[in-house]
Amino acid sequence: MKNFISVKDVLNINALVTKALAYKANPFADRHLGQGKRIGLLFLNPSLRTRLSTQVAASNLGMETIVFNVDKEGWALEFEEGAIMSGNTVEHIKDAAPILGKYFDVLALRSFPSLKNREEDYSEMFIQQFIKYAGVPIISLESATLHPLQSLTDIITIQEHMILAPPPLEEVGRRSKIVLTWAPHIKPLPQCVANSFAQWVNAWGKADFVITHPKDYELSEQFTKGATITNNQNEALQNADYVYVKNWSTYTDYGKIYDNDPNWMLNETKMSLTNNAKVMHCLPVRRNVELSDEILDSKNSLVTTQAGNRVWAAQAVLSEILASPNPSKEWA
Ligand code: CP
Repeated sequence: MKNFISVKDVLNINALVTKALAYKANPFADRHLGQGKRIGLLFLNPSLRTRLSTQVAASNLGMETIVFNVDKEGWALEFEEGAIMSGNTVEHIKDAAPILGKYFDVLALRSFPSLKNREEDYSEMFIQQFIKYAGVPIISLESATLHPLQSLTDIITIQEHMILAPPPLEEVGRRSKIVLTWAPHIKPLPQCVANSFAQWVNAWGKADFVITHPKDYELSEQFTKGATITNNQNEALQNADYVYVKNWSTYTDYGKIYDNDPNWMLNETKMSLTNNAKVMHCLPVRRNVELSDEILDSKNSLVTTQAGNRVWAAQAVLSEILASPNPSKEWA
């Protein structure tokens, strides 16, 4: 694996999931792999799970980690080719990225979208510029449009649950049903988690996949193609085995909140339509806005397991990158 930006960087999803679950059973199995290697975690936005789970994963593999909060501690970066830097930006990515590439063997980046300019956000300029100029493998810690470490975690969590709780005999032969449902929120949020979850579940292909959202919250077809899409949440939830809850802002009329109908929040009545489904969310979650206490605190919630699995997803990805014949480090 050269970089980890989306599911397209993964040759075999099942093999990566198996590797992650093997690390969960034996965290220090490959402690030698990262010895003498250093990863830089660069954050332009806040994080709890991604930041800490990636550090734990790197430590399990024997790697050193340095975290840099670029937004608060670094110079304001310029990304535009040919920019006349007479404004607020101080350092061009063309200058910063190759330097960071000399300090680190692997770079991992978090940068959210502006939600102001769709074309710019969906060009993934920040991460693409790092790939172009850093000269070392790049891992996305959530980019403008995708959150691949989260989605790998989500697949790991579903696969793990499928192994631990296989369907009753009368249901054997029926494919599991996964539903991604939009939920209300007070702020316009990126489409990253929903885009990425859709992209991974479609590529994984192990379950029937339904996406449900209010009218006008359509996601980009480049990620959803293959899923059944409906504006009828109750219909979508029928017989679901896994319900993934997430808010996202509008994609077509970019970055807006059109409808914040609280009736879209999952509750016990809606859950009764499902096949005693397990409920997932990437966290952080706004309780009783996105998801009710009664669901989050119930035995059906997988959110803590899911967040715990972030370590094994990051460790599997780092392990693949460390084991790959990436270009040897040039310190000069
Ligand atoms: N799910 C997730 O990415 O959490 P953080 O934003 O806390 O890293």
